[in-house]
Amino acid sequence: MKVFVVGIAGGVGRRVAARLVAQGDQVGGLVRRPAQVEELAAEGVAATLGDIVKLSAEELAGIIRGHDAAVFTAGAGGEGGPETVDQIDGAGPGKLARAAAIAGVSRIVLVSVFPEAWRERRMDEEFEHYMVAKKQAEVELVLTDRDWVIVRPSALSNAPGTGLVDLGLAKVHEEITRDDVAETVVEVLRQPDVSRIILEVTGGPTPIADAVAAMART
Ligand SMILES: NC(=O)c1ccc[n+]([C@@H]2O[C@H](COP(=O)([O-])OP(=O)(O)OC[C@H]3O[C@@H](n4cnc5c(N)ncnc54)[C@H](OP(=O)(O)O)[C@@H]3O)[C@@H](O)[C@H]2O)c1
Repeated sequence: MKVFVVGIAGGVGRRVAARLVAQGDQVGGLVRRPAQVEELAAEGVAATLGDIVKLSAEELAGIIRGHDAAVFTAGAGGEGGPETVDQIDGAGPGKLARAAAIAGVSRIVLVSVFPEAWRERRMDEEFEHYMVAKKQAEVELVLTDRDWVIVRPSALSNAPGTGLVDLGLAKVHEEITRDDVAETVVEVLRQPDVSRIILEVTGGPTPIADAVAAMART
């Protein structure tokens, strides 16, 4: 399988790439700094220099053409203010979907967020804006004709992965490791019968491959 990852140098993206490379898949991705191209090349990843905000859908199509699937796991990460969040988290997935349509890349996996993340807390305006942008991205993606899957992880941690999750259509927002999110994304890529569905995933008791398989169309 040939997979292109937007956000490949990030916490989840790097872990997705590492798993795919280890399993013999070809992996490409978008990075913003030349040093990242070299770093990722050493890990077996063919990264392309580019910024999802500056690239047009047509330009991005030229980069992702020939891949079987694309993953979007980029995020502004609290930098650059609301406009940046709108451009990356909000508009990025839709742009990737348009590029995928032009390039003939059918499958798209979006790493999103639980809409009710931290509803029990009083979050600041910036966080609320981020949540709105994430939801807008989901809305745009589900309206496309792509073979999309949205994976909404709960709060991310860098603890070692467990290989176990609680995954389904609606879950309580708790915590999950970036390792386990990456493994979930890879399993979704491996299981084409899981399609056009929004999945919520948090730490739990079920082996990841089994949890993903349970969400396949019957
Ligand atoms: N933190 C949480 O608890 C949480 C919970 C649920 C969901 N999420 C979402 O999960 C996803 C993955 O999280 P993460 O922790 O892996 O994120 P991360 O480590 O912050 O990685 C985000 C990546 O996106 C890249 N990026 C940002 N702007 C870009 C642009 N304009 N063009 C191209 N690439 C760009 C960054 O590139 P650089 O390397 O150049 O900075 C970075 O590599 C994000 O979408 C996040 O919103 C997070």
